[in-house]
Amino acid sequence: MASLMLNGAQNLNLISGIAPPGLGSTGLTLNFKDKCFFKKGVLSHNKLRVRKNMTPTCSISASRPSSQPRFIQHKKEAFWFYRFLSIVYDHIINPGHWTEDMRDEALEPADLYDRKMRVVDVGGGTGFTTLGIVKHVDAKNVTILDQSPHQLAKAKQKEPLKECKIIEGDAEDLPFPTDYADRYVSAGSIEYWPDPQRGIKEAYRVLKIGGKACVIGPVHPTFWLSQFFADVWMLFPKEEEYIEWFKKAGFKDVKLKRIGPKWYRGVRRHGLIMGCSVTGVKPLSGDSPLKLGPKVEDVKKAVNPFVFLYRFILGVIASTYYVLVPVYMWIKDKIVPKGMPI
Ligand SMILES: C[S@@+](CC[C@H](N)C(=O)[O-])C[C@H]1O[C@@H](n2cnc3c(N)ncnc32)[C@H](O)[C@@H]1O
Repeated sequence: MASLMLNGAQNLNLISGIAPPGLGSTGLTLNFKDKCFFKKGVLSHNKLRVRKNMTPTCSISASRPSSQPRFIQHKKEAFWFYRFLSIVYDHIINPGHWTEDMRDEALEPADLYDRKMRVVDVGGGTGFTTLGIVKHVDAKNVTILDQSPHQLAKAKQKEPLKECKIIEGDAEDLPFPTDYADRYVSAGSIEYWPDPQRGIKEAYRVLKIGGKACVIGPVHPTFWLSQFFADVWMLFPKEEEYIEWFKKAGFKDVKLKRIGPKWYRGVRRHGLIMGCSVTGVKPLSGDSPLKLGPKVEDVKKAVNPFVFLYRFILGVIASTYYVLVPVYMWIKDKIVPKGMPI
């Protein structure tokens, strides 16, 4: 198993839906067959109402309460965050968390087998993931959507993306018709959505019947200090939360593949900004069966500039910790003999 963790070369299907404790591999696929995680074991969804005294570890609500201290997990905060981060994003941020080989491994479950497929890349930013998509699909069939014009300006400069459609928009309210795309891809964006369930419901809506959604995103840390900074910064969902969001939106054949930079040697205790690739297939045409109320965040509503600035600065400080973690892990990987845990 250790060599599996280190190489990240093989995939493993765990039909039971439980990952072996502490297993933090790259390239591990978990196949969640109608299960939800409970503190006292695993229970299927249809038994959910019978055993009332058990506490689900996955969220039941559509979104995280706004009282929770995730300082860069609102659209306005994410907008300003990327106003500055877009300057260094491709050169300084991505190499620590989101490498080309990770990207290609994460896109593999999206099953991009036909150049004619119509693909939407939601939260596509500077187009780093889109560069992986256009290896398999004609650029003219790919749309990059993002709420940050600054990020999109970088994507527009990339030669292989010249033929892509590039549009500003909100992941929670997509400007595409129902049953529109063959593939929905979103990498590293869900953590900024105030209501991730709504974004995944939108993924379902815009896909054609049989279409596949592939959401790549962070995983929550287990180490206390990393957990503290992660929770102050933004949303690092638990693996089971992704699964639950997909299932509630109506997706079938939901699978989760673990990813991570090679120099982490499979370590997941610090959380990963790009930690898993979750896929699901749309079984029926039309909108998602899930019904939600109005959007959580009204971007037009005025905010107190002092509260905004205070939240923003704290969020940026917390995010700095996650610039240092990959450096720390990289040094450890260099020092600790190969084959030993780090
Ligand atoms: C970490 S970047 C990922 C960019 C790109 N997908 C990649 O793989 O490099 C996150 C992106 O999500 C965008 N984003 C955040 N919230 C969004 C929302 N509600 N709707 C659309 N894009 C959003 C940000 O502007 C940013 O460009």
